Amino acid sequence: MWGTFFGVGVGPGDPELITVKAQRILKWAPVICLPKSREDAGSYVRGIISHLIDPARQEVMELVFPMTKDRAQLEEHWAAATGKVVAKLRSGQDVAFVTEGDPFVYSTFMHLYAEVRDRYPNVTVEVVPGVSSITSAAAVAGLPLVDGAERLAVLPATYEGEQLTQVLRDFDTVVLLKVNRVFDRVLETLEKLGLADRAVFVSRCGSPQQRIVRDVRKLRGEELDYLSLMIVKK
Ligand SMILES: C[S@@+](CC[C@H](N)C(=O)[O-])C[C@H]1O[C@@H](n2cnc3c(N)ncnc32)[C@H](O)[C@@H]1O
Repeated sequence: MWGTFFGVGVGPGDPELITVKAQRILKWAPVICLPKSREDAGSYVRGIISHLIDPARQEVMELVFPMTKDRAQLEEHWAAATGKVVAKLRSGQDVAFVTEGDPFVYSTFMHLYAEVRDRYPNVTVEVVPGVSSITSAAAVAGLPLVDGAERLAVLPATYEGEQLTQVLRDFDTVVLLKVNRVFDRVLETLEKLGLADRAVFVSRCGSPQQRIVRDVRKLRGEELDYLSLMIVKK
């Protein structure tokens, strides 16, 4: 009998935003997988869920997924991680792969999910949704996202230039994820469109390091945290 593969969303950082279902699974799953970006780095999600794990009963596997756009390197890491997960599933153990926010919103889990579903169709896969950084950032910033006929766009802010301009023109509210590396250029675009005053920056929402910046011009030139997003509401 193969084990079940769970993708468990645990919210953006506040342990009180972990769902009851996620808690139940994380308390009993014999194998817990935690993603991290480097071998020598800590796992952000470990800080959110460590109080639920009993190391005497549960095995915690940290899996490295580097922050790179190099497709070949990423595929190598996805394959290595899938191999480790499949070995546990094959031995009959249930595996819970933890993701910050929601597992189906720009998450590494989706790559393992696709691989396991395609190559091991007899494995049961269950996805436990989580509170996404998108909705929790809106909540802490006090910014209702959309109402009535308004339209919402969510972008990885690796979009720039004309594409970003078009989306900012077309939608009522735009949420820019992964904004840290392109912030200055995004700010330029916002200035050109007269939208800089409509933007709010939120980083590490829900965690003790949560930061909310309403005058986003102050952030120009700063080295920003990867766990940062910006909401632009017209
Ligand atoms: C790979 S995506 C993961 C999204 C996640 N699955 C979700 O549902 O929120 C990473 C991006 O999500 C955003 N993000 C995730 N957690 C965040 C947090 N606690 N505070 C602010 N932004 C966050 C940032 O834009 C970050 O660059």
